[in-house]
Amino acid sequence: MQQVAADPSRTSADFLPLKGVDHIEFYVANAKQAAYFYRRGFGMALTAYCGPETGTRDRASYVVEQNQIRFVLTTPLNPESAMAGHILRHGDGVKNIALRVDDATAAYRETTQRGGRGVAPPVVSKDDGGEVCLAAIATYGDTIHTFVERHNYRGAFLPGFVEVPGPDRIAEPTGLRHVDHMVGNVGLGEMNKWVEFYERVMGFSLYQTFDDSDISTEYSSLMSKVVSNGSGWIKFPINEPASGRKKSQIEEYLDAYRGPGVQHIALATDDIVSTVTQLSQRGIDFLKVPKSYYDELPRRVGSIEEPLGQLAELGILVDRDQDGYMLQIFTQPVEDRPTLFFEVIERKGSRGFGKGNFKALFESIEREQARRGNL
Ligand code: FE2
Repeated sequence: MQQVAADPSRTSADFLPLKGVDHIEFYVANAKQAAYFYRRGFGMALTAYCGPETGTRDRASYVVEQNQIRFVLTTPLNPESAMAGHILRHGDGVKNIALRVDDATAAYRETTQRGGRGVAPPVVSKDDGGEVCLAAIATYGDTIHTFVERHNYRGAFLPGFVEVPGPDRIAEPTGLRHVDHMVGNVGLGEMNKWVEFYERVMGFSLYQTFDDSDISTEYSSLMSKVVSNGSGWIKFPINEPASGRKKSQIEEYLDAYRGPGVQHIALATDDIVSTVTQLSQRGIDFLKVPKSYYDELPRRVGSIEEPLGQLAELGILVDRDQDGYMLQIFTQPVEDRPTLFFEVIERKGSRGFGKGNFKALFESIEREQARRGNL
């Protein structure tokens, strides 16, 4: 491995060493049914649960996992809670991008000292599995980041959760491995504010920039900047709408979600053809790509290992940059509101986000918007 001299401009990243995405928590109107969707549709295993049966009175949470991906699906059990208000306003969506740290108290102190808004000071909780320390700060919209310090916690998930017995886990893995990136949509003119938030408060640095000439169609466009943490493992693209002739997909999201929030979660696979074939068979709906896209593909990306016919059949997109190529595909929104969706991504050298696919993709998204009467 090549040794790279330390970049002095990056030393500020050291104040918040992140070990990865611990979990992603969704607030949903019916967690029992949402858990079934992720188990059946994505092949995730139900691993842990908390609710009235386990002594938690105000909510029920289902933990589903596949390899390094862990989602927590939480629903309120009474209408007075802030959680119920969150669902009334936003619909189902991502509440919490929880990040693993070695020291949650230090993470909370360092980020709030730099201007982060604290939403939960550090609290230690314990059970038979050991102890964890959790603290949380706010990010865009009503979204938060919880810092999760697990010590050597051996329980099912967090104190208060019970392990789901073997026969109820029903894992039918589809090859999804880890979270590649998570994208936030913010309001017009707010992208740089949130990029600056991640730089100043969390020690991230700017990774890539796309302006509206990169990402535009005749009707709509957006701007996007990608920030990443010190290790480069965590990447958060931040989108804002840019003016177009008609309503952009970012504006549609902001209207439907009633403000900023997580737009999509990209899940990495080592075999996108196999993963997408299985997800399709399980009823996950993907965006359609015009057939003409594949006529252009060989000229645009050169030779690739995957058979073009299979990619066209599944609607998988391909992009190439100086480091290699990548394959990606996007689901339809997974709620009735046109808000959160998923991306499945396989990287073959490329560290990009599919810039060359934006135009093809957006034309496809706009056809769906038109079908909903929002274009
Ligand atoms: Fe993406």
